[in-house]
Amino acid sequence: MSESDYKDKVALITGASRGIGAAVARRLARAGVNLVVNHREGRGRSGKLAEEVCREAESEGVRAIPVPADISSKKSVEELFSQAEEAFGRLDFLVLNAARAPFKPWEKLLERDLRLLVETNFLGNVFCMQQALPRLSRQGGAVVFVSSLGSRFFNQDYPLGTMKAAMESAVKYWAESYWKEGVSVNAVCAGLVKTDSFKTLRMIQPELENMPERFFLSPEEVADIIHYLIGPASRAICGQTLIADKGISNRLHWSTSSG
Ligand SMILES: NC(=O)c1ccc[n+]([C@@H]2O[C@H](COP(=O)([O-])OP(=O)(O)OC[C@H]3O[C@@H](n4cnc5c(N)ncnc54)[C@H](OP(=O)(O)O)[C@@H]3O)[C@@H](O)[C@H]2O)c1
Repeated sequence: MSESDYKDKVALITGASRGIGAAVARRLARAGVNLVVNHREGRGRSGKLAEEVCREAESEGVRAIPVPADISSKKSVEELFSQAEEAFGRLDFLVLNAARAPFKPWEKLLERDLRLLVETNFLGNVFCMQQALPRLSRQGGAVVFVSSLGSRFFNQDYPLGTMKAAMESAVKYWAESYWKEGVSVNAVCAGLVKTDSFKTLRMIQPELENMPERFFLSPEEVADIIHYLIGPASRAICGQTLIADKGISNRLHWSTSSG
């Protein structure tokens, strides 16, 4: 695939201050894509990390701006996309990566947990899509949603899985609704990745410590798939969720010697 398929294009990545989102930013910058690096917390560690991601991206010769905005707020999402428009005047790719959720079983979810779950992980993505669509359809573009195995397997402390399932379904609806406008929509369903959110899950489920190393993906491996899904080589893929989990979902059982 030629570099010109990516060069001088613009991607907005939600939740790109760290973890998988930051790896996507680095991968796309290497391909020549200008970046809007969204994250939630404007101040403190998150703000510094987002600036660092932008600095690294700019060392690859692209432009990158950090934009703090909580995607669960429609107004903040409108401002996020206005800032992106003002800075770059176009949008080619949207990576719906941000997620924030309580790690606890259903019976313990308070009303505020439920609101966080739905407002960030479903409505937030819908707000982003609504803002992105008129911009992407000007020149054709691509959307990738980052899902997880919780969309299809039960984990009692991971109610986020139900929102991932809803979003995988939305990806199909959006792909069919918007292909005429030249917008491709797909998802990647990643297995286990050692990021900050995984560290939190591991505290609640210490048995994850025993998971053989071969089942873990790196953030960069997820980023490579997203790079592929937004590019022309994936043009025959429409409304699909690609599973990238190092084979963990092939098994009903695993042992510490499964590696
Ligand atoms: N880690 C895994 O094992 C794994 C596996 C499969 C799928 N995934 C999915 O991959 C995506 C990234 O996960 P990760 O583990 O890399 O996450 P992470 O390290 O916890 O980072 C989360 C990122 O999302 C941002 N964010 C959170 N809430 C936000 C909001 N309301 N508005 C805007 N940005 C927000 C955070 O910003 P701040 O820094 O400001 O908080 C941060 O940049 C998520 O969708 C996750 O469900 C993860």
